[in-house]
Amino acid sequence: MLVSAKEMLTKAKAGKYAVGQFNINNLEWTKAILQTAEELKSPVILGVSEGAGKYMCGYTTVVGMVKGMINELGITVPVALHLDHGSYEGAKACIEAGFSSVMFDGSHYPIEENIEKTKELVAVCNEKGLSIEAEVGAIGGEEDGVIGGGEVADPNECKMIADLGVTMLAAGIGNIHGKYPENWAGLSFDTLAEIQKLTGTMPLVLHGGTGIPDDMIKKAISLGVSKINVNTECQLAFAAATRKYIEAGKDLQGKGFDPRKLLADGTAAIKATVKEKMELFGSVGKA
Ligand code: 13P
Repeated sequence: MLVSAKEMLTKAKAGKYAVGQFNINNLEWTKAILQTAEELKSPVILGVSEGAGKYMCGYTTVVGMVKGMINELGITVPVALHLDHGSYEGAKACIEAGFSSVMFDGSHYPIEENIEKTKELVAVCNEKGLSIEAEVGAIGGEEDGVIGGGEVADPNECKMIADLGVTMLAAGIGNIHGKYPENWAGLSFDTLAEIQKLTGTMPLVLHGGTGIPDDMIKKAISLGVSKINVNTECQLAFAAATRKYIEAGKDLQGKGFDPRKLLADGTAAIKATVKEKMELFGSVGKA
């Protein structure tokens, strides 16, 4: 079922677990994530960055693929199709194309402008029954060519954005996209606790899930995080398994060059990564 992320995240917040957002890049990714969610009876959020949307031939292509797959694979668990780090225009385009959830990332605007634009999109999403994520305090690292510094959000600004009626709120707490550097200071749990105190039942979102140690993930969930985004880790798992297949010369044996064989180990590696994360996040059996 393609649904808004509201109900699954409200339940996750109340039940002290988190729902994974796994970013998709193509058919193999989408299939691997949906099948794993169904096998584990877990709700799931498929994340699509604007760059990945473009790569997959536009948002309507993505909607068609995801809806078709939910139907053809007999997926019964709740699935949200979510724009990741959307611009104002990108969010509008995804709403139009049939996404069930969008993120408007106005974290790089002055707070007044972030509030204005978020407010406008909240009204549109409410009217259409879509969930909407907003962001305060830019997440560090590189995403689609944009390098963020990894800010720590101001809890009072988080409250201002939460009060606009967003469904879930991403707050920078020292997390970054991609691999973490050796000298990473870790997550700022004091900030997270403060944000949670001010925003109450609002589901909080932790971006940059790749490479955060398990104990920090668990602590973040205990402090109100109910959605965790994972992207790079699936890419690394896919690449490593595909490299192994080719280095073993399997593409040269029989019909090993057939993409259905060539990409099979990589796809299985995505499934294994998603399973591991769902178990860690506590969403197994919660669909
Ligand atoms: P990673 O690529 O670090 O897992 O981050 C994913 C993410 O936060 C997408 O918004």
